[in-house]
Amino acid sequence: MIHGLGTVQRPLQVAIVGSGPSGFYAAEALLAKEFKVKVDMFDRLPTPFGLVRYGVAPDHPKIKNVTKVFEKTASHEQFSFFGHVAVGKDVSVEELKKFYDAIIFACGAETDKKLGVPGEDLKNSLTATEFVAWYNGHPDYRDRTFDLSHETAVVVGQGNVAMDVSRILCKTVEELKATDIAEHALAALAKSRIKEVHLIGRRGPAQAAFTAPEIREFGELAECDPVVDPRDLEVGENSQKELADPNNASKKKNFEILKTFAERGAGTKSKKFIIHFLKSPKELRGNGQVEKLILEKNELSGEPNQQKARGTGVTEELPCGLLFRSVGYRGVPIAGVPFQEPSGTFPNKDGRIMKDEKAVQGLYCVGWIKRGPSGVIGTNKPDSGATVDSLCQDLPSLTPCAVTDPAAIVQFLKTKGVNYVDFARWKKIDAVEIERGTKVGKPREKFVKVNDMLAV
Ligand SMILES: Cc1cc2nc3c(=O)[nH]c(=O)nc-3n(C[C@H](O)[C@H](O)[C@H](O)COP(=O)(O)OP(=O)(O)OC[C@H]3O[C@@H](n4cnc5c(N)ncnc54)[C@H](O)[C@@H]3O)c2cc1C
Ligand SMILES: NC(=O)c1ccc[n+]([C@@H]2O[C@H](COP(=O)([O-])OP(=O)(O)OC[C@H]3O[C@@H](n4cnc5c(N)ncnc54)[C@H](OP(=O)(O)O)[C@@H]3O)[C@@H](O)[C@H]2O)c1
Repeated sequence: MIHGLGTVQRPLQVAIVGSGPSGFYAAEALLAKEFKVKVDMFDRLPTPFGLVRYGVAPDHPKIKNVTKVFEKTASHEQFSFFGHVAVGKDVSVEELKKFYDAIIFACGAETDKKLGVPGEDLKNSLTATEFVAWYNGHPDYRDRTFDLSHETAVVVGQGNVAMDVSRILCKTVEELKATDIAEHALAALAKSRIKEVHLIGRRGPAQAAFTAPEIREFGELAECDPVVDPRDLEVGENSQKELADPNNASKKKNFEILKTFAERGAGTKSKKFIIHFLKSPKELRGNGQVEKLILEKNELSGEPNQQKARGTGVTEELPCGLLFRSVGYRGVPIAGVPFQEPSGTFPNKDGRIMKDEKAVQGLYCVGWIKRGPSGVIGTNKPDSGATVDSLCQDLPSLTPCAVTDPAAIVQFLKTKGVNYVDFARWKKIDAVEIERGTKVGKPREKFVKVNDMLAV
């Protein structure tokens, strides 16, 4: 029972705020320690798994198998889940501190970055964040509507989120109907009139942030052809050096795939996915809603692997009725925790949350709120492990919490009237979703209203 927290002889009590990959990997690392730890995980939603449930694309079901690993962690006798508890709202950080020797924030990056160009707030200029959450059935976004009545849509950014958004717009209903896409999204996409999706990258084909499996998929869609202008693949000397660099093997793969697209020509399918390079949005124009995007042509400057886009002053117009910016996510503050602008992260050193250059006693962070919105699910494992190592190094100097009965939090939540969802209750929701899905040939039919989840 000794964990090294001063002279206290009891399990270390740790709260984890957020049940996405980084939260679960932190729990796994803590529960593997040689001393006893009680881990309580909070999520503002009744459902666990963060972006694995509400971010990962519905047509990429294998990625979601990682939840099996998280379920194993959740089955540990020293682990408890408290879903439907928003920290900073239902329970304050100060209140949590009474029950826990340490709090690890794993609350991700729930909002989006802006482009900062005129017209960005016009109607039908939207974010990947909200579109992704909507088609994945996130309760906060279920009532959003997306005007899919236009023929041309634009997606700004060339990361894998932009790939997901574009692919969902380019796929047919046949290609999507057997996935766990939200029912409301499938119904809306069935009526979509979008014929062209334009993907806008500010840098060149050697720098695009997407990965090979994701770009390759556009060559395999039922009713959509990828379109690449061969002239865009005539890259400069520094980009050629980048492509020859063995450290950039994944960019080289992207480039090879883009070459095959350019060689195929425009194709004969009814939809087109048109990839633009070296262009930045300068302005969105329209009478009340987006009608056209003004793009500035860019050139690259800087050393190989550090090349940046620089405007040339030459502009062009792209008529469009719908635009999604997909230029990265951003963290949101939680009351009582230091927050850092402009990165939208919690300021930290090795996962210790910092204020005025000093570590804040007992507060730690992992995942996207720690390092910013980058990295795949697996990236979070070593990142969470590193924060847990910092916490373990700090054990001798941590202030023990005031309430040492690990069961006291349950009574506290009940007294506050917080109707939390434990893991057993989530498993019931899970089972009913799977059962609903089986009836319609989907892996699951998600509940999109919190009240419906709670009713289960
Ligand atoms: C659209 C999209 C698709 C992706 N697809 C893939 C993919 O296919 N493969 C892959 O490997 N990676 C993918 N990723 C990346 C991967 O999802 C992230 O690396 C990972 O989810 C980050 O984990 P996290 O725990 O930091 O944050 P999250 O997964 O966002 O988890 C944060 C959790 O914190 C909770 N929370 C937030 N605020 C509070 C609060 N105040 N109180 C309580 N709980 C709170 C949230 O509800 C959420 O459950 C994708 C990312 C996005 C955005
Ligand atoms: N299938 C998967 O494995 C999968 C799916 C989704 C997400 N993810 C992961 O989740 C993480 C986040 O993905 P993401 O797509 O949100 O982010 P990302 O990979 O960082 O891509 C962001 C894109 O936005 C561009 N951008 C940023 N600011 C811009 C601006 N002001 N104007 C124009 N373009 C701008 C970037 O261009 P520059 O390169 O020029 O900066 C880049 O193309 C990534 O690590 C990603 O791999 C993985």
